[in-house]
Amino acid sequence: MTSPTTSDIDLFADEILVDPYATFAALRDQGPVVHLPRNDVYALTRYDTIRAALGDPESFSSASIGFNPMVNDALTGTSLRSDPPEHTMLRAALSENLTPRALRPLGETIDRKAQALVAELAGRGGFDAIDQLARAFPLEIVADLIGFTGEVKANMLRWGQAAMEVIGPFNQRTQENFPIAGELYQWCSSVIAADLTEGSIGRGIFDAEAAGRIPAGSAGHIIHQYLGAGVDTTVASIGNIVALFGRHPEQFARITADPTLASAAFNEVLRFWSPIHAWGRRATRDVEIDGLVIPEGAQVAILFGAGNRDPRHYADPDTFDIGRNPVDHLSFGYGPHGCAGQGLARLEAHAVIRALAAHVDSFSVGAEEREPSNVTRSISALPVYDVVPA
Ligand code: HEM
Repeated sequence: MTSPTTSDIDLFADEILVDPYATFAALRDQGPVVHLPRNDVYALTRYDTIRAALGDPESFSSASIGFNPMVNDALTGTSLRSDPPEHTMLRAALSENLTPRALRPLGETIDRKAQALVAELAGRGGFDAIDQLARAFPLEIVADLIGFTGEVKANMLRWGQAAMEVIGPFNQRTQENFPIAGELYQWCSSVIAADLTEGSIGRGIFDAEAAGRIPAGSAGHIIHQYLGAGVDTTVASIGNIVALFGRHPEQFARITADPTLASAAFNEVLRFWSPIHAWGRRATRDVEIDGLVIPEGAQVAILFGAGNRDPRHYADPDTFDIGRNPVDHLSFGYGPHGCAGQGLARLEAHAVIRALAAHVDSFSVGAEEREPSNVTRSISALPVYDVVPA
C-alpha cells in the first residue's frame, strides 16, 4: 500500500474550470487517485473508481459534499449532505414528487412549452441560446412545478447559481456568492404553503408535512434542494445541447432525421460535457484503491467529467457521437445519491431536443462565452444564427 502521487494543479483555477479536459486526461493517466495538495483533496479520476466510491457511502461520506465547512454546515438536514440511514428517509420524501409516475402529467405541458418557445426563436432567424432558451425554459418549468411567482421567480437563477458556486473551496467566487446563497437559505427557512401557487408540487410538499407523511420542518429543505440542485445544472445542460449540435451539424442531422434519438443524444451531451465539475465526499476510514491509500478524514473530489472520458470505459471518448447512447454516464452521479431530479431534467432536455428537430433544419453557432465557476461548468452566452426553419 502506498500513497497516491501528487499533482501541483489547482482544480479550481480559472483556466481549468473553463476547460478541464486536458487536465482530467493527465490526472487519469497519473492514477485512479491523485493527491492535489493545493486544494487539499484526493481526486478520483477514473470511471470505475468514481462509480465504486459513489456506491459506497460507508467509506465515502456525504458529510463533506462541499469543499468548505461553511457550505457543509448550511446544507445540514438536506438529503444531499446526509448518509444512510438518515439519507434514506430524507430521500424518500424528496423524490416522491420526482418519480416517473409523478412527473408523467407534466410531460405534455413541458413538450408544448418547448415547441412554442423553439418555434418562436427559430422564426427569428437567430437568438442567444443561453439567455433565450437554456435559462428561460427551465426557469419557467421549475417555477411552475414548485409554485414560485413574483420576486422569488425573479431570483431563481441568481439563487440557483450561487447555491452551486458556494460548494467550491473558500475562494473569491465562493465568498462573493455566500450572501446570495444566504438569501435562498433564508427564504427556504421561512417559506410557508401560502407562498406557493395552489395545486403546485411545492404546495403538495407542505401538505405532506402537515399530514405527517414527511418529517416536520423538511418541506423547506426539499424546496431548497429542488432549486439549488435543479436549476443551474439543467440550464448548463440545455446550453450544452445547442452548443454541441452547433459544433457537430452531422449529429444534429441524425436527430432531425430521427427525433427518437433525443434520449440517446442527451446521454451523450451529459457524458461529453458534465455540468458538474467536481463534487465532494469525506473518507470515513483509510480507503485503498488499486494499492493507493486515501487517509481517513481526507476530503475527496469526484471528477465526473474525468470518469466520463475514461478510455478504459468508453471507446474513443473524446468523440461526440449520439449513436453510442451512454446510459451509464456519471453526470447524474450513481448509487444512493444519484440525481433525484434526473427524470425532470430528461423531460426538459428531451423536449428541447425534439423541438429543435421539429422546427430547425440547420443552424450555426458563434464562439461560446464561458465564465469560470467553481462547480457548474456552463456557457454564459452562445449566439445562434443562420437558422433555417424546418
Ligand atoms: C442536467 C441536470 C442535472 C444534473 C447534471 C444533476 C446532477 C446531480 C448529481 C451529480 C447528483 C449526485 C450528488 C451526489 O452524489 O452527492 C445529484 C443529486 C441530486 N439532484 Fe440533480 N442534477 C440535475 C438536475 C436536477 C433537477 C432538475 C433536480 C430537481 C428538481 C435535481 C435534484 C437533485 C437532488 C434533490 C439531488 C440529491 C439526491 C440525494 O441526495 O439523494 N437535480 N444531481
